[in-house]
Amino acid sequence: MDKIKIRGGNQLSGKIYISGAKNAALPLIAATLLTKDLVKLSNMPILSDIKSLNNLMLELGTIIEENEEIRAHHTSKTYTYQTAEFKSLIAPYDFVRKMRASYYVLGPLLSRMGHVELSLPGGCAIGARPMDIHLNSLEQMGANIEIKNGYVVADAPNGLNGAHIIFPKASVGATCNILLAATLAKGETVIENVAQEPEIADLIDLLLKMGAQIEGKNTSILKIKGVQELHGAEHNVLPDRIEAGSYAIAAAITKGRIELEGAVADHLKAPLNILRAMDIKVTEKENGIIIDARNADMQGQDIMTDYYPGFPTDLQAQFMALMTVVPGASMVTENIWENRFMHVPELIRMGANINVHGHASAIVRGVKKLSAAPVMATDLRASFALVLAGLIADGETVVNRVYHLDRGYEKLEEKLRAVGADIERIKEED
Ligand code: EPZ
Repeated sequence: MDKIKIRGGNQLSGKIYISGAKNAALPLIAATLLTKDLVKLSNMPILSDIKSLNNLMLELGTIIEENEEIRAHHTSKTYTYQTAEFKSLIAPYDFVRKMRASYYVLGPLLSRMGHVELSLPGGCAIGARPMDIHLNSLEQMGANIEIKNGYVVADAPNGLNGAHIIFPKASVGATCNILLAATLAKGETVIENVAQEPEIADLIDLLLKMGAQIEGKNTSILKIKGVQELHGAEHNVLPDRIEAGSYAIAAAITKGRIELEGAVADHLKAPLNILRAMDIKVTEKENGIIIDARNADMQGQDIMTDYYPGFPTDLQAQFMALMTVVPGASMVTENIWENRFMHVPELIRMGANINVHGHASAIVRGVKKLSAAPVMATDLRASFALVLAGLIADGETVVNRVYHLDRGYEKLEEKLRAVGADIERIKEED
């Protein structure tokens, strides 16, 4: 298993190109299952999670073509997907276990083919991660659902029907899955209390290009008129707001200046407001954001995660890493996941002063210095938080279990090295 070695202390300065968004790309890939035609997705990030979902698509019978796309400062991937016919309607345990977002194939397979068998993903490091909202909604659309041997077996031999659904929680995954299912259902589906993350608007944009009839983009109610068929389309994936937010914090924690090329400030209002409140200069440009913390007189801030446009849970661990070295006390409250403080014991091993209260709150009291240690995390964002701590710790930090980072941060060492970090990957055979 690879490791990442960081020698802390460098002030970061320069430009980082923000890649296409992982959490947009995943449902976009699943959307291509809704048509026999070819769908081309560009600005796709080069990440192991994308590879995992592509492997499942191949298993289902999708033909995938992959091309490098060389732009001025950056190389990304373009993939074309075509599922003229299916080889299988089963998403096996081995695929879903590796990547929960495999469950995005549920809605498309059920609505196009009337049958799907999906291994239940189970819990993960950040919480129980149930699928009840996805399954209840599909039942309301007329699907017959059974749980057998760890699999969801769903049938709708005569197709799905439109329904009026009210989500108990604004789940991102359920919003995507039910939206995907409703595009080919008979009649109109109304979904209330949907998630409004920018990745959902990106999915709606692709579906509209494919011929879907959807109203209510960027609102809490979506109305979808089912159509008989969808057709091919081309789409450019939006920039990754969580990657951008993570590098914004890298600028803050090293008291540096980083230009986040391609980042969309509108998608990061809550975290950018916290940075501004910490006296960090945030400049919005036409195609990016500049984070300048060189002269900032930072003080602790409270953060509370919430559904979009609230403060994103996917930036909670990274902000906590920043708060460990900012003078004063900061209260961090996690409202989305029940177990997302797994980075805390590792940060404490590096000298942070953090007290966790119950499952949801932590008080962070800023210390003068962190000191390097071998660390490891159990999820993607927590791993990035440890990289951030390593960037300012005294000595050499070794972050283990780098495969978590490879799921969601494209070319992490390359991007950080380009802005002056002393960071390298140590390749190790398994
Ligand atoms: C997405 O997960 C993201 N993943 C997560 O990012 C992110 O943390 C999360 O949204 C919240 O923003 C992807 O987009 C692939 P949810 P998702 O359904 O869709 C509860 C990362 O680091 N819930 O919005 O799985 C659930 O337990 C990852 O990139 C139910 O109760 O999240 C949670 O408390 C980690 N029943 C809340 O809703 C359900 O059927 C939000 O979950 C579904 C969810």
